[in-house]
Amino acid sequence: MLRFAERTKGAKRSAIRELLKYTEQPEVISFAGGLPDPAAFPLDFLANVAQEEILHNAVKSLQYTTTEGKRPLRQSLAQWLLEEGIKTTMDQIVITAGSQQGLDLLGRVFLNEGDAVFVSLPTYLGALQAFRAYQPTLVGIPLEEDGMDLDFLRRAIREARRAGHDPKLIYVVPDFQNPTGITWSREKREELLEIAEEEDLLVVEDIPYRWLRYEGEHLPTIASLDRYGRVIVLLTFSKILAPGLRIGALVGPEEVVNMVVTLKQGADLCGPSLTQRLAVRFLTDYNLKEHFARLCQHYRGKLAAMLDALARHMPEEATWTKPEGGLFVWVKLPDGVDTTKMLERALAHKVAYVPGQPFFADGSGQNTMRLSFALATLEQIEEGIRRLGAVVKEEIAALSLAKQG
Ligand SMILES: Cc1ncc(COP(=O)(O)O)c(C=O)c1O
Repeated sequence: MLRFAERTKGAKRSAIRELLKYTEQPEVISFAGGLPDPAAFPLDFLANVAQEEILHNAVKSLQYTTTEGKRPLRQSLAQWLLEEGIKTTMDQIVITAGSQQGLDLLGRVFLNEGDAVFVSLPTYLGALQAFRAYQPTLVGIPLEEDGMDLDFLRRAIREARRAGHDPKLIYVVPDFQNPTGITWSREKREELLEIAEEEDLLVVEDIPYRWLRYEGEHLPTIASLDRYGRVIVLLTFSKILAPGLRIGALVGPEEVVNMVVTLKQGADLCGPSLTQRLAVRFLTDYNLKEHFARLCQHYRGKLAAMLDALARHMPEEATWTKPEGGLFVWVKLPDGVDTTKMLERALAHKVAYVPGQPFFADGSGQNTMRLSFALATLEQIEEGIRRLGAVVKEEIAALSLAKQG
């Protein structure tokens, strides 16, 4: 018999990945994936620099590299982050295989069994998966329109401490969160830092969607407001360049970065040299301003089309977020609707979404769903939301019939 480790006991495959199998039939209009649109990848640029790097820079692009990642990449990232108001040096940066590896490494470095990690309800599913491997106590904090309910957070930290769970990390995605699209207000960003300082916790600020703002003003990163050295930033090139390169970065206090590098050595020796070189070239040789403007232009119309279609096709019992960026819109249906069960009806109508429940650390959220507008065309968005509106109306009608019966 196989005797797996204790930590595998609660391990679950992502419901979303399992589900994507069913949404791949060509007639299904899918809002389920969380992937960026390949039409926005700078193919010629990547192909040219990959060829140059392989043919003329093989030692740097094909040999092992350092565990913390290539110096020029860390240097150019530090410079770029300065534009975001984050003062950092290359010694405070470690390159990771996407921000997902950053999440796993933070779990390794900080979490003993039972330690408390505070996450919003809902939160990014991949963070729950990464942390769960280290058997923490995940504490869900309600998410409001402008960020976490911080009074609730304060109480939850004290309760966790009283119950013997050492409060360690607060995990947040403050810009166009996955799955809701919600962005934190400046006030809440500032207050979160005060809580972290008062209660002696670290904030993990995960910002994959930050550069995908289609409307409104940029808000400062939590890290740029931090006077206490309590923020660890997770960055990724997945949504602004291409996820298959698997390039991200963890940025934080030097002691944290040193410990992460030490444990990362055992995990992978080093990240991929070739794609790190491509990322350096992207930061130094590509016009980032123009690139981000093109990306935003690409997604802006899709988001507007989805919000417009929802307003026309959803029944009045449904509500949804109105994000100013990112890749997702979050829909809430009346209590009693179970979006996991409803998915069968949706697939019969040839439309797919992600049920919201897996994003909730406490198993709630049955009546919610996540819609991504990134991969669909404008026509598919209109037709898909029309189908989804019909599905939701049928489901609500079936539910009220069942109640009467
Ligand atoms: C909030 C958030 N964090 C982290 C990730 C992981 O992305 P990657 O590992 O490709 O950087 C994602 C991917 O969708 C995400 O939405």
